[in-house]
Amino acid sequence: MPRGLDLLAVDDLQVGYGKIQVLWGVSLRLAAGETVAVVGSNGAGKTTLLRSIAGLLPPVAGRVVFRDRVLGRLPAHEIARRGLALVPEGRELFPWMSVHENLLLGGRLCAERLRVAENLEWVYGLFPVLRERRRQSASTLSGGEQQMLAIARALMSNPSVLMLDEPSTGLSPRVVESIFEVIAGLAQRGATILLVEQNVYLALAVADRAYVLERGRLTLEGTGQELIEHAAVRQAYLGVAEG
Ligand SMILES: Nc1ncnc2c1ncn2[C@@H]1O[C@H](COP(=O)(O)OP(=O)(O)OP(=O)(O)O)[C@@H](O)[C@H]1O
Ligand SMILES: [Mg+2]
Repeated sequence: MPRGLDLLAVDDLQVGYGKIQVLWGVSLRLAAGETVAVVGSNGAGKTTLLRSIAGLLPPVAGRVVFRDRVLGRLPAHEIARRGLALVPEGRELFPWMSVHENLLLGGRLCAERLRVAENLEWVYGLFPVLRERRRQSASTLSGGEQQMLAIARALMSNPSVLMLDEPSTGLSPRVVESIFEVIAGLAQRGATILLVEQNVYLALAVADRAYVLERGRLTLEGTGQELIEHAAVRQAYLGVAEG
């Protein structure tokens, strides 16, 4: 089916590290307003996929098309400037800077000053704990707060696509729940999100559509609900033995 509204299209992407190929022809689509998840186990290539889309890893073959333009070998900062924001797996905050300063750095991609102030209010509203801690250095935040700050920093640039790499990693279930509530809220309000997660149930529950990535290849695709109900997904990822 032709999908005229794709914001992001990944076509036959092949990516590797030196001689080791990790992604073997990955193709996916993301329409405006959609939340799409890519789920898969450890080492499947999820981070490699997001880093490659963000321009941090050059593809061996294939292409990434964003807003009808091939990204090619554009540098990562230029891709970010065009509206593709990555919240990286390791969060990559500036540890000695305050929460507020980290957010302002996220907002530097945003041309208008007025917009920066508005966005600050918006992200502090999404994560009130960040407002309370705005003068603290990022290194003093808890893991969950750091994840919130990483997401908030990405939102400061009003990205047209928000890419999240394992926002649940290393966090307690309660914190994960509150972060996913925010993600679900953004999705409901029309944000376009590409979410990569090992926590398959959480990701499928929030996603409109999802893909399963196994050893560098997409093996299944469906709505979040279809995949939650899919026997192979239930067995391999949700720990449900089918009777
Ligand atoms: N810098 C690197 N150099 C060489 N190989 C790498 C590098 N980074 C990742 N790999 C390899 O590429 C494969 C995919 O790794 P990747 O980090 O993309 O997986 P992932 O799905 O994000 O895993 P996880 O769920 O653990 O985050 C793995 O086999 C990994 O060992
Ligand atoms: Mg990863």
